[in-house]
Amino acid sequence: DPLQCGEPSLPPHAFPPFHCCPTPPASTAAVINFTFPDPSEPLRTRRPAHDAGAGADDDMAKLARAVALMRALPASDPRSFIQQANIHCAYCSGARRQAGWPELPLQVHFSWLFFPFHRAYVYFFERIAAALLGDPSFAVPFWAWDLPEGMRVPPELADEASPLHDAFRNPRHAPPRLIDLDFAYAEKNLTDEEQAELNLRIVYRQMVSGAPLPSLFHGMPYRAGDPGMPGAGTVELSPHNIVHRWTGDYLSRPNHEDMGAFYSSARDPIFYPHHANTDRLWEVWRGSGAGHADFTDPDWLDSSFLFYDEEARLVRVTVRDMLDIGKLRYAYAEVGTPWLTARP
Ligand code: C2O
Repeated sequence: DPLQCGEPSLPPHAFPPFHCCPTPPASTAAVINFTFPDPSEPLRTRRPAHDAGAGADDDMAKLARAVALMRALPASDPRSFIQQANIHCAYCSGARRQAGWPELPLQVHFSWLFFPFHRAYVYFFERIAAALLGDPSFAVPFWAWDLPEGMRVPPELADEASPLHDAFRNPRHAPPRLIDLDFAYAEKNLTDEEQAELNLRIVYRQMVSGAPLPSLFHGMPYRAGDPGMPGAGTVELSPHNIVHRWTGDYLSRPNHEDMGAFYSSARDPIFYPHHANTDRLWEVWRGSGAGHADFTDPDWLDSSFLFYDEEARLVRVTVRDMLDIGKLRYAYAEVGTPWLTARP
């Protein structure tokens, strides 16, 4: 419901700002329905953060410039970095309400809404970034934590002088530390080879053996009037959630900010490359085997969310709009699937 966005339920000791809703539109008439970009737009190819081009073609450098431009916009501008970050707070901390069910918060995690909501999120973030850069072919690089060469925080994000840096990350997990996709708050101290092997097995289990059906991959149905969080899909639980947990600072921040808490995770610029990779795995899953197909249930297809576009217009986007990335004018660079042969 575009007119219903109220106080979020934040965890104790949350860091400001405490409100996460944009200024509401005067009426629902201000909301426009999503339309696909013009097919003549350049195709934006998302490349891995560890190999995202060089010189004038360096998408990590462009991402840093775009985030600096977003941070420089006034906080009242829906394209500003803080308002982009707050979208996550609004949709995951009880501020947004279900249309027709004002007492029910909308929660986009732990259900079949997870992949399409986050696809739309990165889509609009990327278009805002491209517009601010004046570079229509800019694409958000993906943090390829499922590939051995991508299993570290990309160094650009760890550079304290970069607009992509975030102070609220686990200092023990700065590069060159390899990510642990099985992280449960204890350091394993494996060699890099052992850790990479363990990570590949986890991705195999979550993408292949554990996800033969849409309800297992995407998560359980969540319909209007439902209380929410009926059950997450395999990849949402891990690696996705584990990457949040591993990146946030559980050592010294009360709610494992930034990446480890719903309200704050998108305040860390690493959120966007992380979600580009998560989104890429949806494409990989769908293209890899019988039964790997999206739902056809109209309750899924007609579910909708609100985002601001690159011209600061409020857009209603449905799950149905988010199913064909070619029509959305982006693609993923081919990087291989080394975990396919990593059977446990
Ligand atoms: Cu809305 Cu990575 O979570």
